[in-house]
Amino acid sequence: MEKVLLPERIIDEGLELLKDKAEIIITKDASEQSIIDEVSDTFAIILRSKAKITRSIIEAAPKLKVISRTGAGYDNVDVQAATEHNVMVCNLPGINTVAVAEHTISLMLALLKQLPKMDLYVRNGQWGKRSEFISEEAFGKTIGIVGLGKIGREVMFRCKSMGMHVLVYDPYVENALKDNDIRFCNDVETLFTQSDVITLHVPNIPENKKMVDEHLIRLMKPTAYIINTSRGEVIDQGALTSALKEHRIAGAGLDVFAQEPIEQDDPLLTLDNVILTPHAAALTKESGIKMTVEAVKQVIDCLEGRIPPYIVNRRELHLE
Ligand SMILES: NC(=O)c1ccc[n+]([C@@H]2O[C@H](COP(=O)([O-])OP(=O)(O)OC[C@H]3O[C@@H](n4cnc5c(N)ncnc54)[C@H](O)[C@@H]3O)[C@@H](O)[C@H]2O)c1
Repeated sequence: MEKVLLPERIIDEGLELLKDKAEIIITKDASEQSIIDEVSDTFAIILRSKAKITRSIIEAAPKLKVISRTGAGYDNVDVQAATEHNVMVCNLPGINTVAVAEHTISLMLALLKQLPKMDLYVRNGQWGKRSEFISEEAFGKTIGIVGLGKIGREVMFRCKSMGMHVLVYDPYVENALKDNDIRFCNDVETLFTQSDVITLHVPNIPENKKMVDEHLIRLMKPTAYIINTSRGEVIDQGALTSALKEHRIAGAGLDVFAQEPIEQDDPLLTLDNVILTPHAAALTKESGIKMTVEAVKQVIDCLEGRIPPYIVNRRELHLE
C-alpha cells in the first residue's frame, strides 16, 4: 500500500475514505523537520493550512506524486519545486464559495439589524431600547458588489432575492456574464457613491492592495456600510478606522484584516459600529467536511491512476 502523509490530522470522514486505500501516516507535528522525517517513501501529502511544503521536503520525497490542499489557496506549497520534481499540486477552487457568501450576507444583516447592540441591550436590562428603531431593512437598499467572481456572484443572487438593487464594479467580467437586473458601473467611484452596503470580493493581487483608500471611503454615504470578506490588504485599514471613529460612515463588517490575528490593542476593537469575525467566513461545518473529502478524493484519483480534476501545475506538468 502506498503511504499518505498527514502533517495535520484530518476529520474522520476523510480518514474513513482513505483507510482501505493507503497507509496513513500522521506526523508528530506540522514542522518541516517532522515532515522530512516521515516523507522519504510517501506517495501523497494531504495538506491543511499549518504546514508548509518546502523545497527541502519535496527533495526528501523521491516517491512523492501529489500534494493535495484542503482548500483553494496553495501559498503554503513551493509549487515551483513541486513542478521541477514532477509532483502534482492539487487544490479546491470555489470550495468555500457558498460559506463566504452566506457569511457576507450575515454580516450585512447583522449590521442593518444591529444584532450585537440588540443582544447587549437585552443582557443589560435595556429592553426599552427596542422602540428606538435602530434596525434597518435590506429590502429596497442598494448593494454595491466589488468583484463579480465566484463569491461576488453568490452574494448577488442572495441580495436580489431580498429585493435589493444591485450595483457591480468588475472591469474584468465578460459581457456574456452580465445580467439585466444588475447595473454595472464603469468606475468604482460611482459604486462607492451610490451604494447603501458595499461588499468586497476581489483577489489580493498587487494592483488591489489598498484599493479601498481614503478617497473611496470619503465617497461613501454617511449611512452606508462596508463589508470585507476578501483579504485585509485590499482596504486601507487606517483610513477605514478613522472613518468609523468619526462616524463618517455607518459601520463595517470585517472578516479579514491587514494583520492576522488582529493586535489586541488595535483601535478597531474599541469601536461599536464594526462587527469583527476571525477570518472564519469559510469555516462552516459543511465546508470543513467538503474540503477534506474532496482533497482525499483527489489523492484517491492519483492512487487509482486517474488524473484529479483540480491541478494547479497541470499545464507545467503537461497533463492536458
Ligand atoms: N474570508 C474567507 O475565509 C475567504 C475564503 C475564500 C475566499 N476569500 C477571498 O474572497 C475573494 C474572492 O474570491 P472568489 O473565489 O470570488 O474569487 P474569483 O477569482 O472567483 O473572483 C474575483 C473577481 O474579482 C474581480 N476583480 C479583480 N480585481 C478587481 C478590481 N480591482 N476591481 C473589481 N473587480 C476585480 C475579478 O475579475 C473576478 O471576477 C478573494 O480575495 C479570496 O481570497 C476569502
